[in-house]
Amino acid sequence: MIGSGPPLAASLSRARLILRATTIGLLCFQQLVLLFLGWFWLLMIFAGRQRRQDWFGSVVADLFRSLGATFIKVGQIMSTRPDIVPEYVTRALERLQDDVGPFPFDLVAQTIKEDLGGTVAEVFAEFAPVPLASASVSQVHKARLRDGRVVAVKVRRPQVVELCGFDLVVMRLGARLLARIPTIGALSPEAVVEEFGRAVFAQLDFRIEAGNNRRFRRNFRSSTDVVFPEVIAELSTERILCMSFIEGTKILAVARTWADPRRIARLGLQALLKMIFEDGFVHADLHPGNIFITVDHKIALLDLCLVGELDPPHRRAFARFFAAWAQRDGDTMARLMYSMSANAPDDKAAFEAYRAAVIEFVGRYWGQRLGEVQVGRVLLDMLAILRRHRVRMNPAFTIVNIAIAVTEGIGKQLDPSLDLMAEALPYFLAHPVDLGA
Ligand SMILES: Nc1ncnc2c1ncn2[C@@H]1O[C@H](COP(=O)(O)OP(=O)(O)O)[C@@H](O)[C@H]1O
Ligand SMILES: [Mg+2]
Repeated sequence: MIGSGPPLAASLSRARLILRATTIGLLCFQQLVLLFLGWFWLLMIFAGRQRRQDWFGSVVADLFRSLGATFIKVGQIMSTRPDIVPEYVTRALERLQDDVGPFPFDLVAQTIKEDLGGTVAEVFAEFAPVPLASASVSQVHKARLRDGRVVAVKVRRPQVVELCGFDLVVMRLGARLLARIPTIGALSPEAVVEEFGRAVFAQLDFRIEAGNNRRFRRNFRSSTDVVFPEVIAELSTERILCMSFIEGTKILAVARTWADPRRIARLGLQALLKMIFEDGFVHADLHPGNIFITVDHKIALLDLCLVGELDPPHRRAFARFFAAWAQRDGDTMARLMYSMSANAPDDKAAFEAYRAAVIEFVGRYWGQRLGEVQVGRVLLDMLAILRRHRVRMNPAFTIVNIAIAVTEGIGKQLDPSLDLMAEALPYFLAHPVDLGA
């Protein structure tokens, strides 16, 4: 008998889970063997440390690619986390693309029918069958509503929740095993998997993006320069996000528009600083593919699944952190980061070693004008110090640091003279800096 209720379904999916776990295990094992063979070879030919590290990075990246959607997403998130993985791994993971081919239009039509209660032709006046973009989690179609509005419809890939669910179970298991190895255990792999799992699942439920969209639109309602698509609530569900279509170009193609790149660079940076210091609600996936310049020269931000939230104490601490930096006060910076760490160990010697490393690091920038320093680079190097000293900073704080580094990087491509510290100064001055506290 087929389809005889839950027991069969449960055992079926258990069988699939075991199959998936086995596949993952075998692929890991294969890459591990490859890693050792390559490593051994590089030692034999006296290749330098750099080449061994590059080899390690490329094997890890290949592993993530071969493991599919969930791992590609996790790899992409890891590539922005120098606080967790070393730079030679982030560099390799940065190249992970999730440009899997589109899924068939039938399945788009089926999702629309199930969720919106009508056929594509009933709900939309026009609907482009070929997607504008397709990724491992979803694809986006251009369409027109019956009232004439042009929309972008983001539709979730079928089965992706199930697949991510399986993969997450296997990752948890792996993390539990890895946690037993003392050097890795100190990095709390189980907490890291939970954090990444949440980030992946936030991208699977479009109601989260719709909610974030509402908050951003509220925070930026008086801005004339920064816009977000308008979500059409009655046509949006967990699996469908229907929103106003943004007519424009991706930010790094700004040269092809009439917009002034220097103005755009400053506006983008100002928008980020407002998110951090005024709203405490920060877009956490600000890569250039998610930032558009509209035809009327505004900045439009898309893809709002991932956000970082800073409550008022963290916002203040962050402002003080920068103020301390402006005064080259490494000691205060070290203490602030330590006080916001999730796992601050109580070990005095370890703390002193960490504090000395931060002070030494900040001292290296003596003599350079702040405007000359690439703030993002410094923040990322700082995160690497934290990683080496096993200080796990509050994730929101890390996300904000990365958002700054990415935005500054894009901004400097548009305007090399962009000066983050100068733009941010008003925000630091707005927060009383009693560095003694
Ligand atoms: N509201 C919109 N207007 C115009 N294009 C959009 C809109 N939303 C998404 N797109 C297009 O679809 C692409 C993917 O959408 P995005 O929300 O970034 O999803 P993903 O998570 O797959 O990156 C965007 O880079 C953009 O080209
Ligand atoms: Mg995107």
